[in-house]
Amino acid sequence: MLSSLAVVSLVLSGVSAAGGPQHPPDVLRYGRPESVGLSSEPLHELVSNLSAYTHPDDYGDYTDGIHPIEPGSANLIAHNSVIVSHFAVGDAVLYTDVNGTLLPPWKRRKARRDSIYDMASLTKMYTTMATLQQIDAGLLELDAPVISYIPEFAANGKQDITIKMLMTHISGFAPEPRPPLYASNYTTIEQRVQAIITQKIANKPGTTYQYSDLNYMTLMLVLEKITGKKLDQLIHIFTSSLGMRDTFFNRGNIEGPLFRPHTYHRVVAQEFQIDVQGPQVPRRPQPVRGTVHDENAWALDGVSGHAGLFSTVADTAKMCQMLLNNGTYGGRRILRPESVDLIFTNFLSDIDPENPRGVGFQLNHTATAGPMASMLTASHTGFTGTSMVIDRASGTFFLHFANRVHPSREWSDNGLTRQALGYWVARALGREVEFPALE
Ligand SMILES: *[C@@H]1O[C@H](CO)[C@@H](O)[C@H](O)[C@H]1NC(C)=O
Ligand SMILES: *[C@@H]1O[C@H](CO)[C@@H](O)[C@H](O)[C@H]1NC(C)=O
Ligand SMILES: *[C@@H]1O[C@H](CO)[C@@H](O)[C@H](O)[C@H]1NC(C)=O
Ligand SMILES: *[C@@H]1O[C@H](CO)[C@@H](O)[C@H](O)[C@H]1NC(C)=O
Ligand SMILES: *[C@@H]1O[C@H](CO)[C@@H](O)[C@H](O)[C@H]1NC(C)=O
Repeated sequence: MLSSLAVVSLVLSGVSAAGGPQHPPDVLRYGRPESVGLSSEPLHELVSNLSAYTHPDDYGDYTDGIHPIEPGSANLIAHNSVIVSHFAVGDAVLYTDVNGTLLPPWKRRKARRDSIYDMASLTKMYTTMATLQQIDAGLLELDAPVISYIPEFAANGKQDITIKMLMTHISGFAPEPRPPLYASNYTTIEQRVQAIITQKIANKPGTTYQYSDLNYMTLMLVLEKITGKKLDQLIHIFTSSLGMRDTFFNRGNIEGPLFRPHTYHRVVAQEFQIDVQGPQVPRRPQPVRGTVHDENAWALDGVSGHAGLFSTVADTAKMCQMLLNNGTYGGRRILRPESVDLIFTNFLSDIDPENPRGVGFQLNHTATAGPMASMLTASHTGFTGTSMVIDRASGTFFLHFANRVHPSREWSDNGLTRQALGYWVARALGREVEFPALE
């Protein structure tokens, strides 16, 4: 069977890396699971279990029976401010074509603990932080209509859409802009921004839950209007104050090592997108690697409120811990506690009881959090294979960043590995839970 030696040495080295008595109590540090009351054994089993899913097998409806769930992943688990597990399995760069022909061994790259992943829709969580910061600053109101910041947004019946409706996906927008922003209908960014503002809606505002990228594209435009800063700048302000050095947008869609030359080797490969989607999608080197996978974010020059961010599990961990700390990290206040509470408040109990959501995040979402799901568990996924789960009740969070779309989005749904992480975390917490069933 697969060995879990990697995590053992890592947990031990974590002890020596832990801070001394001067270590601020609200900052993450490495430590043994037992030091915070967790069991090590399930966390060791987790490593070989996730590694197993990088091999082809029959995983029920999660794949077509012949492909792996994902080529590899970076993972991080923390409890009571202690990182109890941080490891990578499988590969970051593995295939030479859409059919899964393997690269020669010397061209492959293993996934690393500090691999840089395209966060896809986890970008929305960062946009959520930037939005809550403007609410805290008094520049934005959750219940105000979008038209009080962008009057032209009233076009096509959108005058009653509020900031809160955008953040909880009840604005009435269809899932994606039509035609797509990367379609030949548009030639400039300005035209695409105009298309977002004048977009039609599919439902009456405030009546229907429908997850939509347009909600977070619109939030970007609102934030940029009220602050006079670009979204990537706004997000950089708080990520840099949290000490996140590997969290960035690729504004300009700069290809290859020309963009951030010192980190490109850590960026994972994504999809052979043109082969999968057809010639209408962005024309760029394949597989997509280092420019945003999401075609609409690409059409917005690489920066959008719904997708575009790149990060590592260690960087994103700081944001998760800040939320568990109710808004502070390293003694700095990023959000007011009342704003953090909005993430853990279900705003959809009347509209859609099956889909509880706070601002930005889903609540009680078993498909992402597995057996850790509860109304105090906020979670989200990204299309490329990323997921983030923050459990307020137990003071725990766990991150699974995978490039499941390498080489093709059609190979798998990695909900299984996302839930598996939740299973092993629950076991480490001493809970008797069932492993997620194959469908
Ligand atoms: C992962 O662990 C669970 C629980 O022990 C087991 O049922 C499942 O078969 C394992 N998955 C793989 C791919 O080995
Ligand atoms: C992938 O396989 C399909 C079906 O066999 C074939 O038509 C296509 O040319 C292959 N693509 C590449 C890039 O090898
Ligand atoms: C977008 O372009 C397509 C293809 O040229 C065309 O069929 C469609 O009508 C256009 N849509 C809009 C809204 O202009
Ligand atoms: C954060 O706020 C929640 C809700 O008020 C509270 O239950 C929890 O104890 C707080 N956590 C910390 C670390 O202050
Ligand atoms: C949470 O989700 C589970 C499983 O979907 C469901 O049985 C339970 O009723 C939900 N809890 C609440 C408070 O809605």
